[in-house]
Amino acid sequence: MRDRQQNRQQIVVVTGASAGIGRATAVAFGRRGATVALLARGRAGLEAAARDVEEAGGTAMAIPTDTADHEQVEAAAARVEDELGTIDVWVNVAFTSVFAPFWEISPEEYARVTEVSYLGFVYGTMSALRRMKPRDRGTIVQVGSALAYRGIPLQSAYCGAKHAIQGFHESLRCELLHERSNVHVTMVQMPGVNTPQFRWVLSRLPNKAQPVPPIYQPEIPASAVLYAADHPRRREYWVGGSTVGTLAANAVAPGILDRYLARTGFASQQGDEPRDPDQPVNLWEPADADRDHGAHGPFDDRATDRSYQVWASRHHGLLAGLGAVGATAAVGALASRWRS
Ligand SMILES: NC(=O)c1ccc[n+]([C@@H]2O[C@H](COP(=O)([O-])OP(=O)(O)OC[C@H]3O[C@@H](n4cnc5c(N)ncnc54)[C@H](OP(=O)(O)O)[C@@H]3O)[C@@H](O)[C@H]2O)c1
Repeated sequence: MRDRQQNRQQIVVVTGASAGIGRATAVAFGRRGATVALLARGRAGLEAAARDVEEAGGTAMAIPTDTADHEQVEAAAARVEDELGTIDVWVNVAFTSVFAPFWEISPEEYARVTEVSYLGFVYGTMSALRRMKPRDRGTIVQVGSALAYRGIPLQSAYCGAKHAIQGFHESLRCELLHERSNVHVTMVQMPGVNTPQFRWVLSRLPNKAQPVPPIYQPEIPASAVLYAADHPRRREYWVGGSTVGTLAANAVAPGILDRYLARTGFASQQGDEPRDPDQPVNLWEPADADRDHGAHGPFDDRATDRSYQVWASRHHGLLAGLGAVGATAAVGALASRWRS
């Protein structure tokens, strides 16, 4: 084993690392010099992601893996520890979906989405914990979504999987807290992001799929994942003002949101152009086996690479302090007016 325990760089596993948020996350870890194991299926995507990580300054190992298969996930984890060393951080990102009304999705498609998008996270977490728990050290980050709390039309299988991850995450967190474990698990709830998913997820929509605006560039979620990996004691992170708005509105008035989404959710998830009937589909086989699709999707001209909410979330202690100072000053000013 090429063990690098002394003065070694962080060793990170990222599932779904060949595209989108996973790819941007792998590159961001690479930029800080980490050794990154890239798990996904498509060879062209994996090879290009490995090049990106190395160009960013990291070390990459691409391991073709279908995360719906727990034996493949376990074999990948074993290979990482054998050839690279102890896993410090495991990030679950890989997912797939079907864009269609519930009644247009077959049982087989539903099962496949659940196996990749829910059980893939479970299997990744199992393989990570199997190694981290005996050492009492390590961090697992689950890439979630605002849709882990709020179901939307045309994405029932995906929303079910994200809700399932949320429930499983809470149970596991309680169990680790009960044991006073130093293994930490945290979840990062994402907004709509400009990634390739909108051109390769199986779609039965008449028009081209799009994320519900506002759309963020994948580097924003990636930096949130790194921050969460560095500060994993918080149970979850919310990324983007739209995520905060959705989760808050859903907590207060879910029934109103049902009706709002019934009215707006079909149009807001589709552009004006008709869907290409020959667009690739990544449900059963990778769509990036022969062609790399990169981290970004087709919405560069509409996506933002800034989020003030992310900054605020990281500095909530500072903001609470400033808020308290501001409130004290306001009370003081009012009191002196009252006295004069
Ligand atoms: N984009 C958004 O708007 C958005 C919003 C909220 C949350 N998220 C979350 O962010 C994560 C990534 O989304 P994304 O938009 O970046 O997705 P994406 O662009 O479709 O990329 C998905 C990644 O997962 C891999 N993957 C798919 N099926 C796999 C399988 N069976 N085994 C292993 N890897 C597989 C893909 O590579 P291969 O196909 O080559 O295997 C690819 O690397 C997901 O967990 C999603 O829930 C995204």
